[in-house]
Amino acid sequence: MKNITTTFKKLFYLWRRCQVPIKQPTRFSKIDNLIIFLICILISIISSYKLLLISPLEISDIFSWLLIFSEALVSSYILILVSKKENPTISSRQVILLITLLLVVQTLKFAFASTISPLSMIIPPALIISQGMGSITALAWVSIASLSWLDSAIAIDNNLFFVLLVFASLVSLLGGRIRSRAQLLQLSIFVPIGSFLSQLILIGQDKTSLFDKKEFAFSNGDIFSDSLLLAIVMLLTILFIPLFESIFGLLTKARLLELADKEKPLIRRLSLEAPGTFEHTLLICGLAEEATRMIGGDIDLVKTGGLYHDIGKLHAPSWFIENQDGSTNPHDEIDDPFKSAEVLQAHVDEGLKYARKNRLPQPIANFIPEHQGTLKMGYFFHKAKEKNIKISENDFRYNGPVPQSKETAILMLADGCEAALRAMNINASDNEALETISNIFYTRQKDGQLKDSNLSNGEIFLIKRAFLNVWKRIRHRRIQYPTSKNNTFS
Ligand SMILES: [Fe+2]
Ligand SMILES: [Fe+2]
Repeated sequence: MKNITTTFKKLFYLWRRCQVPIKQPTRFSKIDNLIIFLICILISIISSYKLLLISPLEISDIFSWLLIFSEALVSSYILILVSKKENPTISSRQVILLITLLLVVQTLKFAFASTISPLSMIIPPALIISQGMGSITALAWVSIASLSWLDSAIAIDNNLFFVLLVFASLVSLLGGRIRSRAQLLQLSIFVPIGSFLSQLILIGQDKTSLFDKKEFAFSNGDIFSDSLLLAIVMLLTILFIPLFESIFGLLTKARLLELADKEKPLIRRLSLEAPGTFEHTLLICGLAEEATRMIGGDIDLVKTGGLYHDIGKLHAPSWFIENQDGSTNPHDEIDDPFKSAEVLQAHVDEGLKYARKNRLPQPIANFIPEHQGTLKMGYFFHKAKEKNIKISENDFRYNGPVPQSKETAILMLADGCEAALRAMNINASDNEALETISNIFYTRQKDGQLKDSNLSNGEIFLIKRAFLNVWKRIRHRRIQYPTSKNNTFS
């Protein structure tokens, strides 16, 4: 009996562990929920209304209409659930985009299914969704959008349906991984070529008329013109992806890498006006990148988020120790722990202002408050205590929130370890470095900073090892190599 209870406990534990993420998804406003509901109803009406046009209308027809109507409604909601599961921080604008694309495809299917190839209708939106919301959401969208070819007159050929599913799934899977606009361009060339060859093999050559000028691009069933149309629509989609990024706040890999460019004006300003902070930023990006790789997180997100995490220090660089360069410390001059705590909190508030002004995407802006969480400003708290002022600990804590994702939690840990690792003796052993890292991790955990991040104990162990590896690299760089006159090559 005891064994069964233990097994159940273990199974329950495993079940809870696989429920990623545990945190609450973003809540939408009532208006947004209403808009989403209305679009879903519209999708259901468009998918099913033809069944009501039969005359004379029988009870069985009404039943089949009701069935199709509810099927479309349930499918739309399943799609929303999948997208929320894959991106817990998905915004209402992105969900509206997701189902509006479904609405557009359903409308196109019934209005132009006899003239436009289904490949051109389904593959380009799948590319936008996979780029901005991930491969799983895109796959769910493709499977729902490919269904319900209600009218038998426009129902597509089985082989064409197979080609459509294969290429739409391929685009969904690759789209989520593509890291540059050049790769997107390659995809938009190779997918139409691939679909052309597959249709040629599966559907046959009799439908290929290379020089049919009459209906060159719009005759359904003409394999060549269908593939050409697909290529054109995909290229246009790529052209408009930046527009979708800014309107719907989509964070594509290409956008992430663009933001990580150190020539971006904000990053250039950081390197010129706050060189110490810039150096600190580069080091913690290295730590966080290695740790994120270890646990299989989003490396590009943590690298870019890391670059902007302390951007708020631009409002008063000299108030932060890394930029002081031996000169007088303004905190000593004012000698007011409360004012000093305000300046520290301001690097988060100002950072968020910079993020808004520079239109940084929300997942990047989240790194600004979450890297500090609700940490205590220990130095100024103790200074205030020494002055015997009546204080509350909360006056000396950052406003938060605590890290809400694994990536922001890693950045907080890297931020805490960076100074300690940099200050460590060059001759310190690996165990000493690991102990320093472990102490910082322990205080953060005990303080409740990691409670919403969903990091498991195993992942925390891996992050510690990753930080240790980076420290070993730093130590290796600091070792002076013996050089002689004849040995100056590198
Ligand atoms: Fe900071
Ligand atoms: Fe920092």
